[in-house]
Amino acid sequence: MKITVINGTEKRGVTYNLKEIFLGELRDRAEITEFYLPKDCPGFCIGCTSCFRTYESKCKDAEYIQKIEKALLAADLFVFTSPAYVFHTTGAMKAMLDHFGYRWMPHRPAKEMFGKRAVIITQCLGAGGMSTAKDIKDSLSWWGVSSIKVCSFKLLSEIEWEKIPEKKKKQMTSKLVKTADRIKRIDFSRPARTNLTTRCKFYAVRMLQTGLGKSNPEYTDYKYWKSNGWIDKTRPWK
Ligand SMILES: Cc1cc2nc3c(=O)[nH]c(=O)nc-3n(C[C@H](O)[C@H](O)[C@H](O)COP(=O)(O)O)c2cc1C
Repeated sequence: MKITVINGTEKRGVTYNLKEIFLGELRDRAEITEFYLPKDCPGFCIGCTSCFRTYESKCKDAEYIQKIEKALLAADLFVFTSPAYVFHTTGAMKAMLDHFGYRWMPHRPAKEMFGKRAVIITQCLGAGGMSTAKDIKDSLSWWGVSSIKVCSFKLLSEIEWEKIPEKKKKQMTSKLVKTADRIKRIDFSRPARTNLTTRCKFYAVRMLQTGLGKSNPEYTDYKYWKSNGWIDKTRPWK
């Protein structure tokens, strides 16, 4: 199994330790590639819109983005992690996700994404863990990923790993181990099932693209949808 991990922080803190507990359960059977943000994607999207209008390779940060995308497309499982920063994902994670705006379904989603699986691990001191996970889930689901599991924790005590009470650490470990056990039972030779929500989004966008193509057959996103056969009978899921 190939796992690609996107860490929303470079800090070896609580988020890091939770992710290590989860990966520890899978290491013996997985080839793991990790990215740490902002180090592995330091630039912000500056809104040049080259990726939307023409080619993603024109982005000033293409070198970083293409490396991450290659690892994502090769992976059987994505693991995204983030602490809550003011109720949301870290700026570094948001900056990376912005770069993948062109991969949202209304633009040029990668067909491989429709069969991918993901786990999101977030934590907060008191509140904001779920909205942090949602920031990430919004992008993944609009990329076409249907199978997304969220492990979100409230520390409610200390924010330094060493100071967190053992009882709390045990509770969090138990949830992560259970999630890893579920992952172990998955047959990764088969793509994940594309759920109804994703299919509905696809058909809504297909209608939009069909209309756009009628008024301008040279429109970049329409040409992409057409060349994949999605305007006709082909679908990105099996
Ligand atoms: C800038 C910043 C903003 C934060 N905002 C929140 C928040 O809105 N809600 C919350 O419960 N914890 C918040 N925290 C705490 C973090 O979510 C997290 O629990 C803590 O930073 C430890 O995680 P780490 O060691 O992985 O960095 C914030 C921390 C920082 C540094």
